[in-house]
Amino acid sequence: MKDYREINRANWDERAPAHAASPDYNLQGFIDDPGHISQVVLFDRPLLGDISGLRGVHLQCHIGTDTISLSRLGALMTGLDFSPASIERARSLVASTGDDVDFVESDVYDAAQALDGEQFDLVFTGIGALCWLPSISRWAATVAALLKPGGRLFIREGHPMLWSLDYARPDGLLVVSSPYFERVEPEVWEEGGTYVETTAVFTANTTHEWNHGLGEIVTALLAEGLQITGLVEHDSVPWEAQPGQMTKDDQGEWRLTDRPWRLPASYTLQAVRL
Ligand SMILES: C[S@@+](CC[C@H](N)C(=O)[O-])C[C@H]1O[C@@H](n2cnc3c(N)ncnc32)[C@H](O)[C@@H]1O
Repeated sequence: MKDYREINRANWDERAPAHAASPDYNLQGFIDDPGHISQVVLFDRPLLGDISGLRGVHLQCHIGTDTISLSRLGALMTGLDFSPASIERARSLVASTGDDVDFVESDVYDAAQALDGEQFDLVFTGIGALCWLPSISRWAATVAALLKPGGRLFIREGHPMLWSLDYARPDGLLVVSSPYFERVEPEVWEEGGTYVETTAVFTANTTHEWNHGLGEIVTALLAEGLQITGLVEHDSVPWEAQPGQMTKDDQGEWRLTDRPWRLPASYTLQAVRL
């Protein structure tokens, strides 16, 4: 039986080149315009505030577009991801753009060691990150170890309520079909596609994923001695999480077309290490 990391890494390694080539990640935009910032980070900006001069780490940075965006807002950034193909694309992107950003290949739970015990002013993560991790307590311990006293966690993530919904209902109903709370056993998915526009054909299609309830996330951070400084739920998310039932706005955010106020689609959580 393969370890969940091996299974998920194979899936991400195959998707990273397709994502890098997709118009949705718009790598050319980062190369052509040194002021270009991803839509994800543009959305975060009002809550993120001024990050200039901060030393930051971006956990599960994928191909580096949000990491570079944070660097362009003035933070000194390192991105970390366990997928060699993602890290390779991220490094090749900064080689083309000239942004001063480092990328480290590591499992998120091994981040403190992989980053040589360095502590940061800002830990940034999210948008499809927590669902790959079996234990939210272990993640919170990792975050705490990476923060300096006074350092801040910023996460904007798909809402656990959204993750619990069936996303392929032909009748347009919102139906809870997957766990809301963390369970030991993963949800095992078999999906040939990905979330960007691509013609690529994939073979590593199995993933192992976990949900974590909002209360579990907050409680795990509190247990590590972090103080929660902000928790905002949003009615939108930056991908079409309920295909056929959502409408995209000018900022690239998707929300339910019919009565979007029914569903918390994502949230922004901020916490400070005391
Ligand atoms: C959906 S992406 C993150 C999205 C990112 N916000 C973006 O769009 O650029 C999820 C990332 O998590 C990484 N990942 C999954 N499990 C991981 C783990 N255990 N340790 C480190 N990275 C992991 C994957 O390689 C992938 O790059």
